[in-house]
Amino acid sequence: MFNFSLLFFFEILLISTTTTTAQPYKATDRVFLNCGSSSPSNTNLDVRWEGDQRSKFVPSNITTTSFSSTPDHLDSSVPEIPYSTARIINSSSFTYIFHVTRGPKFLRLHFYPAAYSSLDAKQFFFSVSSNGHSLLTNFSAFLAVSFLRNTHTTDARILKEFLINVNDAQKLNVTFTPSPNSYAFINGIEILSMPENLYFQATTPKYINQVTGPVIDSDTALENIYRLNMGGGQITGNNDTGMYRSWDQDNNYIYGAAIGLTPLYNNPIMYTTETPNYTAPELVYQTQRSMGNQSDKYNLTWILPVDSGFYYMLRLHFCNIIPKYTKPGQVLFTIFINNQTAEEEVDLFHWTKGSGYPVFKDYIVFVHDRDGSRSKQDLC
Ligand SMILES: *[C@@H]1O[C@H](CO)[C@@H](O)[C@H](O)[C@H]1NC(C)=O
Ligand SMILES: *[C@@H]1O[C@H](CO)[C@@H](O)[C@H](O)[C@H]1NC(C)=O
Ligand SMILES: *[C@@H]1O[C@H](CO)[C@@H](O)[C@H](O)[C@H]1NC(C)=O
Ligand SMILES: *[C@@H]1O[C@H](CO)[C@@H](O)[C@H](O)[C@H]1NC(C)=O
Ligand SMILES: *[C@@H]1O[C@H](CO)[C@@H](O)[C@H](O)[C@H]1NC(C)=O
Ligand SMILES: *[C@@H]1O[C@H](CO)[C@@H](O)[C@H](O)[C@H]1NC(C)=O
Ligand SMILES: *[C@@H]1O[C@H](CO)[C@@H](O)[C@H](O)[C@H]1NC(C)=O
Ligand SMILES: *[C@@H]1O[C@H](CO)[C@@H](O)[C@H](O)[C@H]1NC(C)=O
Ligand SMILES: *[C@@H]1O[C@H](CO)[C@@H](O)[C@H](O)[C@H]1NC(C)=O
Repeated sequence: MFNFSLLFFFEILLISTTTTTAQPYKATDRVFLNCGSSSPSNTNLDVRWEGDQRSKFVPSNITTTSFSSTPDHLDSSVPEIPYSTARIINSSSFTYIFHVTRGPKFLRLHFYPAAYSSLDAKQFFFSVSSNGHSLLTNFSAFLAVSFLRNTHTTDARILKEFLINVNDAQKLNVTFTPSPNSYAFINGIEILSMPENLYFQATTPKYINQVTGPVIDSDTALENIYRLNMGGGQITGNNDTGMYRSWDQDNNYIYGAAIGLTPLYNNPIMYTTETPNYTAPELVYQTQRSMGNQSDKYNLTWILPVDSGFYYMLRLHFCNIIPKYTKPGQVLFTIFINNQTAEEEVDLFHWTKGSGYPVFKDYIVFVHDRDGSRSKQDLC
């Protein structure tokens, strides 16, 4: 359970244990690949998507190992680019090879489950791996979207976002492998570099209910599960700090009727060396969900369904934006993660220089697979 007085945003990253300064941030690698398309296209973001068909990222036998297709219909919630075309993989495997710089990258895979070339949406089961990390196994975009539509969104597409470190070979391979008697498909691939120490060499995380645990180093791959903007609206990729991360509203995830207060702040956020301005956009810190002066009477709790049997990293962002709180001792709160006490008596005025100064804290928690079924559990 989380019990927060102040909380802005919160990112959950799944830690995959498979085989493997306040400066502006300008991504050195930027790839927006519209799969199944042969021509470039612009979107309303300041982004130019290139078609994969004639790109330098595809294998030379592309025409015998895959084909281009279009969905039988496009849901009104789904933008045309990159979802109105797809590459269908009808061979045993298909690898995109991206030549990028060394360092950590976002790898975003866009899927819109629909019928393609008379193949039913339910027929696509496949695995995706990258640089030795198994990212998706026997994945069904149709089932993934059905699950989300039953719970939290109305979106008909799914974005899978991974954080992968590229070594000195300076290559990011993305391999699609259909399950037996099945096909793979992909609508769009994004690759964006990120600051070296944003997630991978950031602050030492605090382990929940254990003394030590996995270390997030360059051999680790992470999957982003949730990225929420507390108390504010959805923040789209072009309002992020150069990495096109999108931040969702938190209101679908709050437990019960106790939703707290959502104050707004119009002043600039005072970024620091520890929390440089690329960490999260000002919009994230300028809204919050606060417990107000009734904090002794209820708990503010977010419920986040996750797969069991994995480690999760939670990054909690805080910033005091309530003018009447000006000094230590006025706001104290406890943070519970998955029913464990993560922090007792947090006072933001001890963590920061004062109002308008942001700070973030990382926590790592293992979500036990109690019955061995790797089923979804609520992280709260
Ligand atoms: C971060 O700060 C630098 C200057 O200190 C500025 O040039 C840059 O635009 C800022 N970036 C963001 C995302 O605010
Ligand atoms: C296509 O080319 C890749 C190497 O680029 C190779 O590994 C694969 O076996 C080839 N597939 C077929 C069906 O020829
Ligand atoms: C995949 O589909 C293409 C286009 O229809 C076809 O030329 C190719 O032979 C198929 N490959 C396999 C392995 O079935
Ligand atoms: C990427 O794939 C190419 C060709 O299949 C292979 O030679 C290379 O070792 C792979 N690189 C990585 C980092 O997996
Ligand atoms: C993939 O998942 C489907 C549906 O759950 C299942 O029927 C199929 O056997 C699985 N295939 C593999 C290779 O695990
Ligand atoms: C997001 O960015 C767009 C321009 O890229 C701007 O028009 C819009 O006002 C921004 N949204 C917010 C909430 O600031
Ligand atoms: C609690 O806050 C409300 C609104 O912010 C205010 O009207 C009320 O006087 C406060 N109560 C106390 C005991 O401070
Ligand atoms: C808040 O949650 C904690 C941990 O589950 C519990 O000990 C406490 O009694 C709760 N407080 C209220 C006011 O519900
Ligand atoms: C949380 O902990 C309490 C006391 O340790 C226990 O009774 C309760 O069942 C736990 N809740 C969950 C969801 O694990």
